[in-house]
Amino acid sequence: MTRVAILISGGGSNMVALADAVRPVLVLSNEPGAGGLSKAAARDIPTEVVDHRDFPDRPAFEAELTRQLDAHQTQVICLAGFMRILTPGFVERWDGRILNIHPSLLPKYPGLNTHQRALDAGDSEAGCTVHMVTPVLDDGPILGQARVPVLPDDTAQSLAARVLAEEHELYPAVLRRFLEGNIEPLYLP
Ligand code: GAR
Repeated sequence: MTRVAILISGGGSNMVALADAVRPVLVLSNEPGAGGLSKAAARDIPTEVVDHRDFPDRPAFEAELTRQLDAHQTQVICLAGFMRILTPGFVERWDGRILNIHPSLLPKYPGLNTHQRALDAGDSEAGCTVHMVTPVLDDGPILGQARVPVLPDDTAQSLAARVLAEEHELYPAVLRRFLEGNIEPLYLP
């Protein structure tokens, strides 16, 4: 079994969806109050907190991330609502073994506020993307996408909820394929 660690910063709903598919060896949060920590603990998944505010800079923070990941013999990292930018040094060390889910149809809307940006642009559809992480933010090879319609009365919140439900389908499906060595993009309707 490939040893998968999941990095979170918040509620951890994607982490739960992943954990139902592949038992993680570690759930690590940079936010001590992340709701996902208790959800992981309730599933008997080991948890760690590495609070970025405790470190003078990104490399020092990432050195501790690496220490924790290595302590759990991590082989693959899934970013699941992990809201810290990773340095090229960290990403290169894990070359091709970090996956991320992003709440837009990349290459559209890398970065933050993806749903509001899709609404402001008048897009008729939105969605989410799982991609391999490279040193450029939200830019690596696409492993899968799922699409949803944008409805006339949508707010950023209502659109986010519709996309999040798709994230929970897409990410475990892509991770399973990835662990089998299949990196052909998966496009859900
Ligand atoms: C998800 O929508 C995920 O795509 C997004 O944060 C949310 C986390 O929710 N990630 C990013 O914006 C990364 N830049 P969750 O904690 O319930 O999985």
